[in-house]
Amino acid sequence: MHSDPSANTPVIAWVAGATGYTGHELVRALCERGATVHAHIRPDSPRLAEWTERLRAYGAHVEAVPWAEEALKAALLRAAPTQVYALLGTTQKRARAAAAAGAPPADYTAVDVGLTLMLLRAAAALPEAPRFVYLSSLGADPHARGAYLRARGQVEQQLRDSPLPYTIARPSFISGPDRPESRPAERISALLADGVLGVLGALGARTLRDRLRSNSARGLARALIRLAADPAAANTIAQAEALHEQGARPST
Ligand SMILES: NC(=O)c1ccc[n+]([C@@H]2O[C@H](COP(=O)([O-])OP(=O)(O)OC[C@H]3O[C@@H](n4cnc5c(N)ncnc54)[C@H](OP(=O)(O)O)[C@@H]3O)[C@@H](O)[C@H]2O)c1
Repeated sequence: MHSDPSANTPVIAWVAGATGYTGHELVRALCERGATVHAHIRPDSPRLAEWTERLRAYGAHVEAVPWAEEALKAALLRAAPTQVYALLGTTQKRARAAAAAGAPPADYTAVDVGLTLMLLRAAAALPEAPRFVYLSSLGADPHARGAYLRARGQVEQQLRDSPLPYTIARPSFISGPDRPESRPAERISALLADGVLGVLGALGARTLRDRLRSNSARGLARALIRLAADPAAANTIAQAEALHEQGARPST
């Protein structure tokens, strides 16, 4: 039986993936709302010093804790979060770079599944169960042919079987001109999709348009915060159309 004692209590948030495009917007938005925010950074993160300064400027406590189960459990126990957000994920490019550098595996299995499930176990060991908010993806499926969507589906399955109250968010593209890392293919796909979907929406296919059009990191962060605080969103999956800001328009 899932329960959600975090509803209606002051928000203490743990954000994994706090240096990411969506993660840093989430940290900023939570801080703006007066939450106590623990922004997790791996100590070997590229640009650790720069991100530490930036996240502190938002008002967050920076947690430079290694991805090691006991260290993570101890840090979560100290922070006692009411909400745990999992927004981390690798890319094929990053996995290839890690392999070429002889670094530990950094593919979808190791990062998207392995580290997210480590966080889930650490959260499940807390005396008070936090809401676990997982940023998944449209199309996540444990039996998907593609490794990325399969990894997302595997994490979703574990979450549904866990004793923690969870919220899964399944956005389409997360894209915008403010993404610091250049991802031209992703950006062009998002723009093309938004263009085609705009036409479909005008022709009446609004549900399809709202499901597939891209999310901005800022809008998505606001949606995640709204869902995390909503008792009715415990143990549910929010599809892409529920993750847009009210009245938000496709990215340009
Ligand atoms: N982009 C999209 O269109 C899209 C669509 C649907 C779902 N998603 C999912 O949504 C999540 C957030 O997306 P995003 O685009 O905002 O992410 P992002 O900017 O790529 O950020 C990824 C985060 O994961 C961390 N990370 C990456 N490799 C790691 C490793 N080997 N060990 C530990 N941490 C690692 C990064 O930390 P460092 O800074 O330390 O590397 C960063 O905080 C991801 O899980 C992504 O798969 C993305």
